[in-house]
Amino acid sequence: MSAPIIRPLAELRALIRDWKSRGETIGVVPTMGALHEGHLSLVRAARTSCDRVIVTLFVNPRQFNSSEDFAKYPRTEHADAALLGPLGVDALFVPDGDEVYPPGHATVISVSGVTEPLEGQHRPGHFDGVATVVTLLFNMTQADRAFFGEKDWQQLQLVRRLVQDLKMPVEIVPCPCVRDEDGLALSSRNQRLSPEGRSRAAALPRALFEAARKIEAGEPVEATLTAAAAELEAAGITPVEYLELRDGDTLEAPQAGRATRLLVAAWLDGVRLIDNVAVNLP
Ligand code: PAF
Repeated sequence: MSAPIIRPLAELRALIRDWKSRGETIGVVPTMGALHEGHLSLVRAARTSCDRVIVTLFVNPRQFNSSEDFAKYPRTEHADAALLGPLGVDALFVPDGDEVYPPGHATVISVSGVTEPLEGQHRPGHFDGVATVVTLLFNMTQADRAFFGEKDWQQLQLVRRLVQDLKMPVEIVPCPCVRDEDGLALSSRNQRLSPEGRSRAAALPRALFEAARKIEAGEPVEATLTAAAAELEAAGITPVEYLELRDGDTLEAPQAGRATRLLVAAWLDGVRLIDNVAVNLP
């Protein structure tokens, strides 16, 4: 059986009132649909720690940098509902664009600092769109816990900052990135790779993990990253927008003794791929 699809906010709110009146906890998994095993792992995590699970499906126009990317984003609502049914999802909330952003909607949430480098430089406005819609989704679902994948590392740090700064009563639960057998991080955008591109895509996590291993072994960071970027270009994964070592929390320059992350964004077949990995600095 498919997960029940709820569209009007009033209908979701009635369910939430009922659940809260019985003291039940609510977990939310915010998504843009085209669900894959990565999303399902978030749903399973929510299922084990919350009484009720809401998955939201909203392809948020405000976080896309081009109308073409927005138009091409895969939309598979009924297949998504079918995948979620057996996992015991209580509601697949699919709000209308007009209910999320009614005419006259004028509030934008903007988080500074953590959003500025990397994705922030290459996708201007993207994180304002994410912060605004995540705030709306938290307000609409009134969740006690929200589950986010570590694949979108910078997004995860933005959400943590947002919740802390605005004192939102929701616990953010990070969940590990899920990878295909060849190491490629699962993403709804992978569907747009050609079969040939898909087989070449494994070079991205390979170069990323290899660079992390070398840095951990004490090889010079700059030379290692330059060589890794050249490897990606040679594999046809080009352009490489960034391949950078950053502080894991603040996304500023890395510092010894703090959690560090190596992050990459690069293009293949007209598809933008992102990935990241933890690095233990020597
Ligand atoms: O990670 C995503 O799918 C989106 O950025 C999110 C968090 C659902 C907001 O639209």
